[in-house]
Amino acid sequence: MKLNPNQFVFVLIFTFSLGMPVFAAPDLANGKAIDERKCYACHAKKSGFGNGDMIYTRSDSKVTSLAKLKSMVAMCNSELRLDLFPEDEADVTAFINRQFYKFKP
Ligand code: HEC
Repeated sequence: MKLNPNQFVFVLIFTFSLGMPVFAAPDLANGKAIDERKCYACHAKKSGFGNGDMIYTRSDSKVTSLAKLKSMVAMCNSELRLDLFPEDEADVTAFINRQFYKFKP
């Protein structure tokens, strides 16, 4: 198959954008930014604490393992149609775990 230059650049970018995040370590700064932008306000309101961090540290948390944390983040993401990419979901999970839950991997 012969590609013209535009197609070649497209294939290159596509390959890298798919391939990179799989190998990259989680980006905690990106995770924090996502939490602040997409998660904090709703948690502050829904939890009744007026503080979006406190839902992660509440004593009646159902999140008791890293696996449950991942599925809870995935649930908030898909239920609420936040449209996070899988790598963003991984970043925000890693940030929340590092900051609040502190589960061992
Ligand atoms: C529109 C509102 C809303 C948004 C936006 C939202 N969540 Fe939630 N989230 C909730 C509610 C409500 C609960 C509590 C669910 C329950 O008690 O079962 C919750 C609970 C959680 C929990 C479990 C907390 C615990 O320990 O009990 C995690 C983790 C979580 N959300 C992650 C996220 C992340 C990450 C995002 C952003 C990418 C996000 N949520 C965005 C409404 C939201």
